[in-house]
Amino acid sequence: MHAPAAQDSLFEHPAREAIAPGAWWLHGFARGEAARLLTDVQQVLAEAPLRHLVTPGGYRMSVAMSNCGPLGWVSDGRGYRYSPTDPDSGRPWPAMPTSFRELATRASQAAGFEGFMPDACLINRYEPGARLTLHQDRDEQDHGQPIVSVSLGLPAVFLFGGLKRSERPRRLSLVHGDVVVWGGPSRLAYHGVLPVGDAAHPATGRCRINLTFRRAG
Ligand code: SIN
Ligand code: FE2
Repeated sequence: MHAPAAQDSLFEHPAREAIAPGAWWLHGFARGEAARLLTDVQQVLAEAPLRHLVTPGGYRMSVAMSNCGPLGWVSDGRGYRYSPTDPDSGRPWPAMPTSFRELATRASQAAGFEGFMPDACLINRYEPGARLTLHQDRDEQDHGQPIVSVSLGLPAVFLFGGLKRSERPRRLSLVHGDVVVWGGPSRLAYHGVLPVGDAAHPATGRCRINLTFRRAG
């Protein structure tokens, strides 16, 4: 894949930075549509409110989560899995907004992945102090499909490591509108988020919102 031309990085496409083979940091890729995305996040959360899931080991996650699309990621004492229904309401997850789906497809294309059709969007809310420990995303059926992660609101340090937990992760300071895409040889890379610092962002207030798009089923 060639580097973007200079004028692309200023106008048509924001700067694209390689993190690892198959992993790209798309600086500011969603900035121009962030307000639309956040409006749609509120619509989804009105139907499927954020909640703190419990890990199979019995820990309450510091990140609050919800989902939209045909499948949603859930965790409880029985394990991690994708579910077509919201366990809190028993109803299907809210539909994935068009703005979400289109962004996920555009971002995956910008990272060199054609034909990505997400069927799951996990909404993560990080209040100050919330974090996500280093993990792999492996609950999806087809690891040939990439993951698209959109950051909104407060900044956070994203840890992006290798295929073994022991590999020292890179630290990426993600800001409002940044998108990270990882797939191919990086699909099972360990990743996580350091505790979010206490501040307020004009778009979200005192939190970071992260959307992650996956082909789960
Ligand atoms: C995730 O690993 O599912 C979320 C990553 C992030 O919040 O940036
Ligand atoms: Fe993850």
